[in-house]
Amino acid sequence: MSADLDQMFAMAREAQAAAYAPHSRFRVGAVVRAASGRLYSGANVENAAYPVGTCAEAGAIAAMVLGGDRAIAEMLVVGDGEALCTPCGACRQRLREFAPDAAAIHIAGPQGIRRSFTLGELLPHSFGPDNLA
Ligand code: THU
Repeated sequence: MSADLDQMFAMAREAQAAAYAPHSRFRVGAVVRAASGRLYSGANVENAAYPVGTCAEAGAIAAMVLGGDRAIAEMLVVGDGEALCTPCGACRQRLREFAPDAAAIHIAGPQGIRRSFTLGELLPHSFGPDNLA
């Protein structure tokens, strides 16, 4: 892994440990690297009213916006379990708002990155800000 990805993975693991997931017991951490180079992390925050819970990716993107960045270069998501912890459909669309099709989305488990996709692979033929221009 590159030094950048090592740092993203370490931050994502920290975020994962801080996740609030008492209902599913499935903790997720996410880190976005903005085009500026700054890193922002997020974790899932669940709710007793289940649909109100938010994903780790949404938290990282909100932190990025709050930090003044508007362009995503890449994201790393870490979750446990056998299946890859790929972003849900809604979070793919959230990423699409700020990331180009070529942006790398790295999916990690406790040992490190397991697989990398581009956003275009995860959300082909997407609807984005340009569609409204
Ligand atoms: N979750 C995320 O935070 N990100 C993902 O990529 C997949 C799922 C969360 C939502 C919920 O809190 C828990 O994982 C189980 O679905």
